[in-house]
Amino acid sequence: GDQESLRPYLALGGVRNISLNLSISNAGDDAYDTNIFFNFSRELYFIKMWQKEEKGISCELAEPDFLRCSVGFPFMRAQTTYHLAVIFDTSRLSGENDTLRFRVSAQSANPEHDSKLADNTLELSIPLVHEVDTTITGTVTPASFIYGNSMDPARFVQLDDMECSFQPLNLTFQVINNGPSRLPAATVDVRIPNRLVGSGADMLHVLESQVGEQYRGNCTSHNNPMPCTVPQDRESIFHTIFAFFTKSGRRVLDCDRPGRSCLMITCAIGSLSKEESASVDMRILLNTELLKRDSSSVIQLVSRAGVRVDPVAVEVPSGLPEDVSVVFEALHNQEPRGYVVGWIIAISLLVGILIFLLLAVLLWKMGFFRRRYKEIIEAEKSRKDSDESWDWVQRSQ
Ligand SMILES: *[C@@H]1O[C@H](CO)[C@@H](O)[C@H](O)[C@H]1NC(C)=O
Ligand SMILES: *[C@@H]1O[C@H](CO)[C@@H](O)[C@H](O)[C@H]1NC(C)=O
Ligand SMILES: *[C@@H]1O[C@H](CO)[C@@H](O)[C@H](O)[C@H]1NC(C)=O
Ligand SMILES: *[C@@H]1O[C@H](CO)[C@@H](O)[C@H](O)[C@H]1NC(C)=O
Ligand SMILES: *[C@@H]1O[C@H](CO)[C@@H](O)[C@H](O)[C@H]1NC(C)=O
Ligand SMILES: *[C@@H]1O[C@H](CO)[C@@H](O)[C@H](O)[C@H]1NC(C)=O
Repeated sequence: GDQESLRPYLALGGVRNISLNLSISNAGDDAYDTNIFFNFSRELYFIKMWQKEEKGISCELAEPDFLRCSVGFPFMRAQTTYHLAVIFDTSRLSGENDTLRFRVSAQSANPEHDSKLADNTLELSIPLVHEVDTTITGTVTPASFIYGNSMDPARFVQLDDMECSFQPLNLTFQVINNGPSRLPAATVDVRIPNRLVGSGADMLHVLESQVGEQYRGNCTSHNNPMPCTVPQDRESIFHTIFAFFTKSGRRVLDCDRPGRSCLMITCAIGSLSKEESASVDMRILLNTELLKRDSSSVIQLVSRAGVRVDPVAVEVPSGLPEDVSVVFEALHNQEPRGYVVGWIIAISLLVGILIFLLLAVLLWKMGFFRRRYKEIIEAEKSRKDSDESWDWVQRSQ
C-alpha cells in the first residue's frame, strides 16, 4: 500500500520542485528484491530521493521518464513501513497537457497473491493550471483638445473630399502578465464613446488598431462608412446664440453607463510569458463638427478596456485589476463669432429696454405716478398758500 500527498493543483511556473511523498508497507513475509517504479512525464526532471530514516532505499534513473528505487535490498523485512519522498523539477513543464500524471508501482521477486496486487500500483495525477495575474494600463494622447469655429484648421486633420475637421487621438493599452505562469492567450475589449446622443451620428473613424509588432495578435477592424457627418439642419442665429449661452455644462460620455453607444474593438493577443507585456495601439479620428452642435462646453469621453484571459488560464484571485479607463476631454473654445457678439449686444439692449418699459407700464397701472403727481401738486399748492400768507403778513407789517 502507498500514500499520496499533493496540492490540489499545480500553477505552471509557480512551483519549482514537487515532492512525491510515499509510504510502502510490507504486510507479509520478508520480501526479496523489492522495487518501486516511477513512470512520469518527460518534462519532469528527477532531482533526488529523500528517506525518513536511513533504511537502505536507493534510486536510479533508468530512463529520463522512468525511475527505479530498490527498497531494503536484499530483503524488505516483514511488517515494516518505509517513508520516502521523490523530488522532481517542474520548471520545464509546458502545460501542453492539463494534467501531470505519475504511475508508481511496487514489485518484489516473491510471488504475491493476485487479489493483493491491486494496491501495488498507484496512479497519481495533479491538474496543471496556467495561473496568471494580468493587468492593463492605458493612455490617450492628447488628453484634451480645443475645438470651435474660430480654431485654426491646421490643428485638425482633413480627409480627402471631406469638409470635416477631425481631431486625431492615439489610444495605447498595455497588457502585462505578472505571472507566475505563461499566459497562452488573451482578449482585450476596448469601448470608446461614439455618439453624443443615442440616435446621433457616429463621431469616430478608426484609422488603425493593432497589437504591437513583436507579438502575434490582431484586432477587429471597424469601418465607419460616413466618417464626415455634418448635421443638416440650417443653423439659425437664435440657435447659435442659444448654443453660446447654454455652452456651460459638462457632458460625460462613459461607456460603463447604460444606454451609451460605444465603439467596440476586440483584440486577440498571443502568448505572454511571465513579466512580459503587449501593447494595443489605436489611431482614431474624431469628427469635431458633431461636437460643435452640442450645448456642453466640456465633453468628457471615458473609454474602457478590459483583458480576458484564455479559459485554460486562471486569474490569481484578488490580484491586479483587469480593467482600465482612459479619459479625454473636448473643450469648446467659448469664443462667439463677430456677428454673434453684435447680435448679443443688440438683443441685450432690446431686452433691457423692454424690461424698462414693462416696469414703467406696470408702475403706471398701479397708480404710482398719479398719486405722486397729486401729492406733489397738493404739496406745491399748500406751500404756495403759506408763502402767500407769509408774504402778506410780512408786507402788512
Ligand atoms: C528545488 O531543488 C533544488 C535542488 O535540490 C534546490 O536547490 C532548490 O532549493 C529547490 N527549490 C525548492 C523551492 O524547493
Ligand atoms: C514530504 O517530504 C518532504 C521531504 O522531501 C518534506 O519536507 C515534506 O514535509 C513532506 N510533506 C508531507 C506532507 O509529508
Ligand atoms: C514505464 O517506463 C518503462 C521504461 O520506459 C516502460 O517499460 C513501461 O512500459 C512504462 N510503464 C507505463 C505504464 O507507462
Ligand atoms: C501528454 O499526454 C499524452 C497522453 O497522456 C502523452 O502521450 C504525452 O507524452 C504527454 N505530453 C507531455 C508533454 O507530457
Ligand atoms: C499618433 O501615433 C502616430 C503613429 O504612431 C504618430 O505619427 C502621431 O503623431 C500620433 N499622434 C498623436 C496625437 O500623438
Ligand atoms: C486574427 O488572429 C487569429 C489567431 O491568430 C486568426 O485565427 C485570425 O484569422 C486573425 N484574423 C485576422 C483578420 O487576421
